[in-house]
Parts: sequence; structure tokens; C-alpha cells
Amino acid sequence: MAKAAVNYACTECGYSAGRWFGKCPGCDAFGSLVEEAPAAATATASARPLLRLVDVNAEEAKRISTGVPELDRVLGGGLVPASLVLVGGEPGVGKSTLLLSALGAISAAGRRALLVTGEESTAQVKLRAARLGGTEAVEILAETELEAVCATLERERPDVCVIDSIQTLYSADMSSAPGSVGQVREAAGRLLRVAKEFGVATILVGHVTKDGAVAGPRVLEHLVDCVLQFEGDRYHAHRVLRATKNRFGSTNELGVFEMTGEGLVGVPDPSELFGKTLPGEIGAAVACVLEGTRPILLEIQALVAPTDLAMPRRVATGVDPKRLAMIVAVLSRHAGVALGSADVFVNVAGGLRIDEPGADLAIALAIASAARNAAVREGVAAFGEIGLTGRLRPAAQSERRLEECTKLGIAAAVAPAGTRSRSKIRVSESGTLREALRAGLEAGEENPRKSA
Ligand SMILES: Nc1ncnc2c1ncn2[C@@H]1O[C@H](COP(=O)(O)OP(=O)(O)OP(=O)(O)O)[C@@H](O)[C@H]1O
Ligand SMILES: [Mg+2]
Repeated sequence: MAKAAVNYACTECGYSAGRWFGKCPGCDAFGSLVEEAPAAATATASARPLLRLVDVNAEEAKRISTGVPELDRVLGGGLVPASLVLVGGEPGVGKSTLLLSALGAISAAGRRALLVTGEESTAQVKLRAARLGGTEAVEILAETELEAVCATLERERPDVCVIDSIQTLYSADMSSAPGSVGQVREAAGRLLRVAKEFGVATILVGHVTKDGAVAGPRVLEHLVDCVLQFEGDRYHAHRVLRATKNRFGSTNELGVFEMTGEGLVGVPDPSELFGKTLPGEIGAAVACVLEGTRPILLEIQALVAPTDLAMPRRVATGVDPKRLAMIVAVLSRHAGVALGSADVFVNVAGGLRIDEPGADLAIALAIASAARNAAVREGVAAFGEIGLTGRLRPAAQSERRLEECTKLGIAAAVAPAGTRSRSKIRVSESGTLREALRAGLEAGEENPRKSA
């Protein structure tokens, strides 16, 4: 059969042409043209019977436990059958390791689990499996041709299938190279159809680009039911799994793992690990932040160093830089902490990232502690959102945060006014940032660089 003519379409405006352009003639966007799969001969479709929601068999939607509690939590309570999940992460962060142990547990529970490996040979996977253990019943297929993978899935119909990775699959119908935008989109689209039609819960492993987004077209993220990001420094033992999109659960859930010789081990109590500061240490504060349904204590470190730069630096690791700039501005304007001629560095312990405004107060405490050379009072945690007026706003679910503090043996918390506590912990309610600093910091120099 003669190959159908290749067609290129712009992902921005839909312009379509028979050849590739670097710049779209339709909308002038650069690099937006991708190869399209040739349209299949259109068969005349017949009308389908309809179903009322009440008649839908809900048994089908019972979740499959992955056997990795932290992964289940991030997925919203387990894998939904026939769903498509995308797992992204930096090279070497442990995607294959995590998914192989999940497949092992799924197969041990009596379900069929298939690993399609395009990146590693079966022998390499076997080596990893031997290290992890408990993966004897996992089936494996070393294949990169999309059509063969889809046909195998249709015939075998495993309960769960992992594709490692989506970038290695290629369709013979398309002329572009494996891993290109067109190929990845085509592969995801076809796997989606197979997953829904044959009830295979499919997990796609995706590579990430330099700036951390899942490589390939944005459309991939729209296509799948759930996008998980596996983060963490390859040189640190701790990894964090979070959902950036989830059709079946919260996107704020967080799973913490530790990489060991036996694979990734879940860390059920991250507060114990990340929420400890040394008593009397300058520039360190404990934040009680909420990640999804889970409160976590995190150590926030700050360094304030005098600078001669006309534009002092504000460097944030694990905190949104815009949020840091705002906190620094409110500190200098409303709380008398002059930072105009100082560099400010903020770091969250353990390589974690905070997106929650409830961490504002602890960040401000750490910076003020560093600037005033006064330690945060011993055994004190803080949470609360800082407003631009210097007033503190109540943080969501304060009771659960306080419970977590009590669990870790923290005696007192600095929190916005109106925070009620039913537990034993002493709460210093503060209406403004200035009051909160007074409650949270040991007496130090009030403003060592007043001249600044
Ligand atoms: N024996 C071992 N002991 C401890 N850690 C190990 C051991 N072997 C491998 N690792 C860890 O496993 C990581 C590799 O994991 P894995 O292959 O699952 O990553 P990946 O995300 O799939 O990477 P890629 O994107 O290259 O496929 C290594 O970075 C290393 O930290
Ligand atoms: Mg891998």
C-alpha cells in the first residue's frame, strides 16, 4: 500500500500544509508545526445506544491499589481502572524503580501487570527486579513499535500496563523520529483509546524538558486523566511525588520517598524528617504547611547578607520567588525589618517545594531572625498568610496543622488571630506581622543595620 501523503498542522492555529515550516505561515508562531497522522478511511458510523448514569456499573470504577501507599495517596486512593496516568520526572529520579515495584505489588495481588520497556532491555529490567524483589509475576514486553504494543494490549488485556517511556514509542505511519511531538501525541492518543476500550489502566513514563515540564506537546497533559511529577535531587535520597492534574482526586497530595538499595521506600511521616531545627539557630523557622489533606512540618532557612549591589538579590529555593519578594517588601514596610541593602536567601529543607500561602509567616520569621540576629523561640512553629497590609490572614484547616505540631512535640505556635486550638498546644494569636515577630523571636538587636 502506498504511504499516505504527510501532513503538518500548526498546534497554535490549526494551519495545515503538506510540508514543514519553521515559522507557521498562518499565525507566525515558531516551531509549532507538527506532523499529523494520516486520517484513516472514514467508515460510516452507526448510532450507539445511550445509557443513563444510574445504570452505569460502578463496580468498574473500583480503584486498584498499587501496593505503594504513597503512590496510592497521590493518585487519590489508587489507580482507576481504564485510566491513563502520565508520570514525569528528571532522568534517574527513580520513575522506573517506583513503577516496577508498583507492578510487582499489583501482580502479587492477583492482577495482570505488564511492563512495556522501550528504554531498557529485558535483562536490565531483570537486574532491577532482582534488587527490588517481589516482581516475579510481572509480565514484560520489550517493544517500541506503537502498533505492536497496542495489538498486544488488545489481545492480552492486562489490568495495569506501564509504558517506559512514551518517548521511545514510534508509529510506522509517521515519518518523524521517535520522541518528536507528532509521534508522542499519536502514541498517547492511541494508547488512550486502547486503555478506555479494553479497560487497561495505563501509566506512561514521560521525560521532562530542561525547565521541568513534561516533554512533548502540552496536549499530552490534556489527554491523560492524571499527571504525576516525580521530583527531587538525584544526589539526595529524598524524592517527592505530586499530582499536577488529577481527574479522580486532589492535586495537592504529596508522596515522599527515600531511595535505598531495595528501591523507593515511602516516608510515612515526613514532618519527623524535615521539621526539625536546632534550638537557638539563627535564621531557621519551622513552618506547618498543608499539602493536600496532609499537614507537614518543614524547616525554612534564611540568610540575610549585606550587599553592595544596587539591586539586592532575593534567591528562593523551594519557595515562589514572587512570594518571597512580597514577603521581603511587607517585612521592610510593615514590620520594621530593613532589607533594602541586603541579599536574602531562602531555602526549604529536604529539597521540598511549597506553594501554599500558609507558609508565609514562617518564611518571614526565618528572614527576620536572620536579619535581627535573634533566634526563633525554641519549640515554636508558625503558619499563616501575610497580606500586603501587614495583617495576617487565617490559614485553612488550622486545627489539623496544630494537631501535627502536637504530634511532633511542638509546644507553641504563632498563628493569625482567630486561630482556635482544641489541643494542648499554646497558640500566640497575632493580628499583624509585627506582633507575630514579637511572639516568635527571642529578644535580639531590634534593627542591627538601622543606617541601611
Ligand atoms: N543499588 C542501588 N542502591 C541505591 N540506589 C540505587 C541503586 N541502583 C540504582 N539506584 C538509584 O536509582 C536511580 C535510577 O532509578 P531509575 O532507573 O528508576 O530512574 P528513572 O527515573 O527511570 O531514570 P531514566 O529517566 O533514566 O529512565 C539512580 O539515580 C540511583 O539513585
Ligand atoms: Mg527509567
